[in-house]
Amino acid sequence: MSTYSFLRGVGKKALDGVSGADAAFESMELLGAAAGLDRTALLLKKDEEAPEQVAAKFYSFTERRLKGEPLQYIIGTWDFCGFSYTVGPGVLIPRPETEELAFLCEAAIKKNAYKVVYDLCAGTGCIGLTLARLCPEIEVRLFEKYPKALSYLKKNVPEALSRRVRVIEADVLKPPRHKLPLPDLIVSNPPYIESAALPGLQKEVLSEPLTALDGGDDGLTFYRAIAAHWLPLLPPGGFAAFECGETQAEAVSELMKPFGETETLRDFYGNERFVTLSR
Ligand SMILES: C[S@@+](CC[C@H](N)C(=O)[O-])C[C@H]1O[C@@H](n2cnc3c(N)ncnc32)[C@H](O)[C@@H]1O
Repeated sequence: MSTYSFLRGVGKKALDGVSGADAAFESMELLGAAAGLDRTALLLKKDEEAPEQVAAKFYSFTERRLKGEPLQYIIGTWDFCGFSYTVGPGVLIPRPETEELAFLCEAAIKKNAYKVVYDLCAGTGCIGLTLARLCPEIEVRLFEKYPKALSYLKKNVPEALSRRVRVIEADVLKPPRHKLPLPDLIVSNPPYIESAALPGLQKEVLSEPLTALDGGDDGLTFYRAIAAHWLPLLPPGGFAAFECGETQAEAVSELMKPFGETETLRDFYGNERFVTLSR
């Protein structure tokens, strides 16, 4: 038998090579997931013996992490803007930059009393579902093409939001074919990595679906399609917001300009990461 504290130390040492400075954090996260305990409970129990099955589960989680599986897929959930979303193989793990995109949309919704929001390329649904939680007056339509991502997306819609949120299976590269209430705000974090750059990505990132990453030859395929097929749906006074690669903001802005006034915004790390459009 081993104490929780001992297991955490073993995990940290094992993960040093894979997770570097995050090894202690990741060991704690994996132990918490194995034991079904949060951080506070783990700290309170640190000198207690962990049950055999908890230790076995923790060692198997650590093994998976050592083989390069993303931490979030092993744990099975991840936080976004303070809300927990189910994740796993087949769906993109929500990123911290994208939280900034959600918050800037929240501000626009509240300022303009927008009612209908489209989240194109929804993945887990982290953006649209967070907006539905933060803005109780809005209706949200979540558009996603791929069945695996759709299965997580559907799991992530709680009963309490089901009256205001709809998941729609759709190809965003094509014009919308559903009869829907028109949007006041369109948000999207589409695939935006240039196809040729995909093989050079980190091992963990390559565990995520390529369909969530591949933005075509120049990385801009989705922005072009959204400009052609979706932005014309926005009424005067409407708003759109996009995440993009750190060298793409100017090109994305050019694509959006025919529809209104654009602005590029930097993320927390100082990279030009977001483009907004005021119709
Ligand atoms: C970069 S991920 C973003 C996911 C989520 N919005 C987020 O911010 O974490 C892009 C998403 O677009 C979806 N996708 C890719 N091609 C699509 C298409 N043609 N139509 C609709 N969704 C698509 C992928 O399955 C993936 O879930």
